[in-house]
Amino acid sequence: MIKKPLFAETITKEEAFLFLSQGNLVAIPTETVYGLAASITNEEALKKIFQVKKRPFFDPLIVHVSNLDQAKSCASQWPVVCDLLTKEFWPGPLTLVLPKSSIISSLITSGLSTVGLRMPRHPLAQELISRTGPLAAPSANLFGKTSPTQAIHVQYEFQNQIPVLDGGNCHIGIESTIIEIISDSELCLLRPGKIQIEEITQNLFKKNHPIKWVNKEKALSPGSMKHHYMPQTPLIIDFEHLNQEDLIILLKSKLPLLPSEIEEVQIIKPKNISTLHSILLDSSPEIAARTFYSQLRLIPTSSDIAVIKWDLLKTKGPWEGLWDRMKKAATYIHFPKNPSS
Ligand code: TXA
Ligand code: MG
Repeated sequence: MIKKPLFAETITKEEAFLFLSQGNLVAIPTETVYGLAASITNEEALKKIFQVKKRPFFDPLIVHVSNLDQAKSCASQWPVVCDLLTKEFWPGPLTLVLPKSSIISSLITSGLSTVGLRMPRHPLAQELISRTGPLAAPSANLFGKTSPTQAIHVQYEFQNQIPVLDGGNCHIGIESTIIEIISDSELCLLRPGKIQIEEITQNLFKKNHPIKWVNKEKALSPGSMKHHYMPQTPLIIDFEHLNQEDLIILLKSKLPLLPSEIEEVQIIKPKNISTLHSILLDSSPEIAARTFYSQLRLIPTSSDIAVIKWDLLKTKGPWEGLWDRMKKAATYIHFPKNPSS
């Protein structure tokens, strides 16, 4: 059923402020991806986020702040390492997971005792949050789907039912790096992003604050799920750079063997494999990440599959954040036969 477009036009800053103050949702720009925001003080608005996104309640939301006082009011502990990290990386694409304070509803944290906090760099987000107070916002896409990096992506995803504050194209293009602050000297990477763990380690070392990275048994959080960010058309990543004919033969044998669903996200298996759409990504990791999600949205519906030819070298270091999203968006990954080649 086609719904009447409620918000065919994007809204102004003032309207965004009013909508949020009145307990409505607003899609807001950040430098990473657009967020679907609600005031942290309005339980009904917070529930709407899950309903609109069709997101399971077990997946916690990130709280966005515009200054350090707001951030500290959301956390019950603020070890020294947080001062050092926020001084260096905030505002920016780094989310810190810390023990929550009593002002944070368990709806935001899905019942966890910790909360994810981030100070976005986008000037419109900063200005808005300085007026509204902290906003809870997941990426403004349906659960399991590709995150939006342009206002038009959000309008399309929610069929103009959600007001969108247009802040242009997101500069970073993939979601923030998430780290959990286990203690003042122990951190845990929950989701890779533009800010790399090496960068954090070195920065803290220079400030005479050495830290250790620990591996925590990951709680079930879609940010770390196997299949997420998936486009409409199945995405194939080919490390062997097969020719089209060989790739089709391979996929015809492999795709039917895949499950139809992993971790509540549907795996899309094409009925036919004849029309391939090639995705070419920039040779710079920054630009490749910035454009990746919009490239996924540009796959023609007439294509049976989309293919990215990729290289093992582009899975580490500055490529790690993008590679994490690529593998989660992929229906099938064809690894090279000889990994050393
Ligand atoms: O760049 C970003 O982080 C964007 C923009 C809008 O800020 N937000 C974003 O939100 O990507 P979302 O909800 O799509 O992804 C946030 C991830 C989820 O996978 C969630 O499970 C995890 O953060 N998360 C949130 N709070 C957490 C917590 N207390 N402990 C562990 N994981 C948490
Ligand atoms: Mg998301």
